[in-house]
Amino acid sequence: MPKKKKRKLTPEELEKWRLYFEEVAKKEGVSISKALAIKGWMFHEELIWLAKTARELHRIIEVGSYMGRSTIVMLDNSEAHLWCVDSWDCAYTTAPAIRKGFLENIQNQKDRVTILHMQSDKAAIQLMDLHGPNSFDMVFIDGGHGYEVVKADILDYTPLVRAGGIISGHDYSPINREVMVAVDELLEEFEVVKTLWWRVKS
Ligand SMILES: C[S@@+](CC[C@H](N)C(=O)[O-])C[C@H]1O[C@@H](n2cnc3c(N)ncnc32)[C@H](O)[C@@H]1O
Repeated sequence: MPKKKKRKLTPEELEKWRLYFEEVAKKEGVSISKALAIKGWMFHEELIWLAKTARELHRIIEVGSYMGRSTIVMLDNSEAHLWCVDSWDCAYTTAPAIRKGFLENIQNQKDRVTILHMQSDKAAIQLMDLHGPNSFDMVFIDGGHGYEVVKADILDYTPLVRAGGIISGHDYSPINREVMVAVDELLEEFEVVKTLWWRVKS
């Protein structure tokens, strides 16, 4: 049977969904409004999960910040310090406006952000040298989406997170098959919220 093409939501429908999820977030005691205004790929449900998880935590690593959608939702809903790793050198991120946009978006909370403007493998070594193993509460991996890089990020960043902390990442979905394969291969058990995968480090 021929596949039915998915219809794009109209601006009115998108606005209806935005209002609905802002209300859901409010009921959960978090705010996703500022994050939603930033260009990015995180779904509403994922932003709510990040907000609720971050509010309990103090030291969070984010691999892949782009313009700061996931960064802002964690900053806005916690008192945590964030270490943001991004090379800003992919085909879609080299434009100076992308990194400039990130800097503008975090401007008001920049004292709680340490930027590591480099490849994620180099940043992991630097973080390990400076902070040592088991020194962070969470890592959120949303950098490169190829099999090798996702696998390397999970292997490089897991030792930095304390036992009982959170290992998580984005885009566990069929349109990012390589992310799925890497996560399936390395993690025996994990939870999925929409396309966000996570587990507690044992
Ligand atoms: C999908 S975007 C991140 C989206 C962001 N989390 C958000 O909420 O909008 C991926 C980002 O990872 C960065 N990136 C890709 N591969 C990387 C690598 N190997 N090391 C560091 N950053 C990388 C890109 O420059 C890009 O900004």
